[in-house]
Amino acid sequence: MLKNKTILLIITGGIAAYKSLDLIRRLRELGAEVRPVMTKSSAQFVTPLSVSALSESKVYGELFSLTDESEMGHIRLAREADLIIVCPASADFITKICRGIGDDLASTLMLAADTKMLIAPAMNVKMWENGATSDNVRTLKTRGHHFVGPDVGSMACGEIGAGRLADIEEIAQKSVRLLNPSEKLKDKHVLITAGPTHEPIDPVRYMANNSSGKQGHAIAVACVDAGMKVTLVMGPSHLEDVPGADVIHVSSALEMHEACMGLMPADVAICCAAVADWRPESPGKQKIKKEENTDHWDIRFIKNPDILRDLSMHKKRPKVVIGFAAETDKVEANVKQKLLKKNCDALVVNEISDWHDPFGSDNNQVGWVTNKGHEPWPLITKQEVAQRLLDKLEEMI
Ligand code: CTP
Repeated sequence: MLKNKTILLIITGGIAAYKSLDLIRRLRELGAEVRPVMTKSSAQFVTPLSVSALSESKVYGELFSLTDESEMGHIRLAREADLIIVCPASADFITKICRGIGDDLASTLMLAADTKMLIAPAMNVKMWENGATSDNVRTLKTRGHHFVGPDVGSMACGEIGAGRLADIEEIAQKSVRLLNPSEKLKDKHVLITAGPTHEPIDPVRYMANNSSGKQGHAIAVACVDAGMKVTLVMGPSHLEDVPGADVIHVSSALEMHEACMGLMPADVAICCAAVADWRPESPGKQKIKKEENTDHWDIRFIKNPDILRDLSMHKKRPKVVIGFAAETDKVEANVKQKLLKKNCDALVVNEISDWHDPFGSDNNQVGWVTNKGHEPWPLITKQEVAQRLLDKLEEMI
C-alpha cells in the first residue's frame, strides 16, 4: 500500500519518541522507504542507532552538515518525500512550524517542503490544552496540515487526559489513505449532518438530544482526507469547524432540514445528527413564567420533518444515503423497519445501554446494517468508525 512511496519521518523530543520505532517498522512493512530526521532533543529519548537500524537509512539531523548537503541537500530531502510525518510532534515543534521558524534541519525541512504533512502530537495534557498550542494547531489545520490524535488516556507523567500519541496503526493507516486517495470517492460531494438540534421552548429554554457531534465531525474529517467535497450541516456543538469542509451551522431541526434540502443534488448523504423528533408547537415569545398553583407544565409538541427520509425520497436523491440509528431494545426488528421506512441504503446502529453510552465519548461500538444483513463492529474510536464507513461507501458508490 506504500510501495514506491518515500516518507520523511521527523522525530521530535518527547517520551513518545520511542514509539516512532514501531511506526518505522510498520511503514516499511507496508512498503514505504523511510528517511528519518531527528531533532537534537529526540536523541535524548531514542538513539539514532536504533532509528537507523530499523529504517535501514541514514539518520538526518544536522542542518549544516557538509556531507549531507553534498549527498542530498535539505531542499531535495524535503521535496523528494511523498509524505512528511512528524511523530511524535512536541508542542515546541508545532509552534515552530506554525510560526515558520527554521532553526534546525527538521523545522527547515517543514518550511521548504511542498508535500502532504501528517502531524501526530504527543505531550502533557496541560500543554495540549494550552491556548497557545490550540491556536497553533487550528492555524496549521486551516493551512491544510493533517493531524492524527492525540488520544485520551493516562500518560507517562501520571496525568490523565488528551495528549497520548495516537495508535501507531492509526498513524500508519492515515498515511496510507493520504497517499492513496480513493479514485471513487475523490471529488464526490457528500452532505453530512451532525450534532444535536435545539428546539426552542421560549427564548431561554430548549429541548435537545444527547449528542456531542463527534461522530459526524470524525466522518467529515475522513471524507476531507479522502478528497471528497464535504458539506457539514452541524447542529449546536463545541467542536471546531472541520478544515477543508463547508460547514453550515444550524440550530433547530427545521433549519437543518431547510439547509439539507437546499444542498441537493449531492452524491452521498450521511445523516449522523441526533435530530429532535419533536418541537414545541408554540414556543413562548417571552420567557414562560412558573405558575404558582400547579406542579405541572404541559407543552404540546409537533413532529419535526424527517431529514434522512426526505433526502432518501428526494427527486434528486443522492446515490448513497446512510443513516444512523440509536436503539435501546428490540434492536434487530427496529432497525430492519427503520431501514425500510427511511428508504436508506445502510444504517449505522448504536445500541444504547448501561454498558454502552457513546454520547460525548471518543469511542463507539456500532453495527453496519443493510438489507443484506447486520455486521457488528468492535468497540473502536469514532475516527475508526468513520474510516470503516468510508470503506463501505467506496464499495457502494
Ligand atoms: N433523523 C433525521 N431527521 C429526524 C429524525 C431522525 O434525519 N427528524 C435521522 C438521524 O440523523 C438518523 C436516523 O434518522 O440518521 C435515525 O434516527 P433515530 O433517532 O435512531 O430514529 P428516529 O427516526 O428518530 O426514530 P425513533 O426515535 O422512533 O427511533
